[in-house]
Amino acid sequence: MANEVMQAIRVHQYGEPEQLQLEVVPRPVPKEGEALVKIHATGVLPIEWKIRSGTFRNYMPATFPYIPGSAFAGIVEQVGSGVTTFQKGQAVFGRTNNGGYAEYTIVATETLALKPEALSFAEAASISGGATVAWTALFECAELQAGQSILIHGAAGGVGAFAVQFARDRGAHVIGTASSANQAFVAALGAERVIDYATTPFEQVVRDVDVVLDTIGGDVLRRSMQIVKPGGIVVSLLEEPSQDQARALRIRAMKNTASLPFPSTQLLQTIAHLIDEGQVKATIAHIFPLREASLAHALSQNGHGHGRIVLHVAD
Ligand SMILES: NC(=O)c1ccc[n+]([C@@H]2O[C@H](COP(=O)([O-])OP(=O)(O)OC[C@H]3O[C@@H](n4cnc5c(N)ncnc54)[C@H](OP(=O)(O)O)[C@@H]3O)[C@@H](O)[C@H]2O)c1
Repeated sequence: MANEVMQAIRVHQYGEPEQLQLEVVPRPVPKEGEALVKIHATGVLPIEWKIRSGTFRNYMPATFPYIPGSAFAGIVEQVGSGVTTFQKGQAVFGRTNNGGYAEYTIVATETLALKPEALSFAEAASISGGATVAWTALFECAELQAGQSILIHGAAGGVGAFAVQFARDRGAHVIGTASSANQAFVAALGAERVIDYATTPFEQVVRDVDVVLDTIGGDVLRRSMQIVKPGGIVVSLLEEPSQDQARALRIRAMKNTASLPFPSTQLLQTIAHLIDEGQVKATIAHIFPLREASLAHALSQNGHGHGRIVLHVAD
């Protein structure tokens, strides 16, 4: 189907959210092992404004022009040769490195999963980059066990809100940090205690936890190391913790790199199943139409959360 077009948000240079421009671009065609998906909803991840603004230019330089976004949900439109696991018309979700702020995207089938019927497209679009990261950090990096205690920073955010629920389901004792506006929300997700990070330094009221999940970095990461019991672990989503500090405290500390390869079909399916069964809830902070991607970035950039921001692309 050559010469077909689609609407997509593209970025031509680093800058403010206004760099997110709605344009008409060629519609991609799936190659061997790929599927073309008609996108219905796309998650807005913080990394996307960090790339767009140039904050990550040394770490993840952009090639212009590009279509931002990666965590999507939609319907299979076409499959490339050799694809037998998916077919046209199936509702799916997953992760693409070909841009998610668009009417269509191309995705490798290894990172695509069937969307349970009960999940909305917006909910499904919140799984990759949120739930999948929480899962790998808790269970692959920290190997969280029932009965352990865990402090989850940013517990109301796109990652944190899932992390609280997964940890609670595993039988861990969960403490979360959040702003005053999100105290009740985080408690309802299953945190036994919620600390208002704006008024209470967490290290004054928490000590000897088994695990810290750091979604903030910097000073929060350094202070978090002090409240872990010997033999415990800090997992940061943001940066490599100081190994000198970890050794001195007899704890382990690592950056979550387990989530860097895109999530497998199996992990996506496992999490979708938990949401489908009602064990875990996906929370959507706000839904913007695709053309208002700049407003979505402005909201993401302000650093507060309540689940995942999502772009609505099609009904
Ligand atoms: N390395 C990786 O694989 C990876 C993967 C995913 C995400 N990340 C990074 O992890 C971070 C979190 O991602 P996200 O999607 O959860 O972001 P998000 O949805 O924007 O949520 C961020 C949360 O941080 C909270 N917060 C802000 N300042 C805080 C502080 N001083 N103490 C405690 N909480 C604070 C906010 O809480 P309130 O709303 O209550 O103010 C907000 O809910 C982002 O920086 C993202 O880029 C890394």
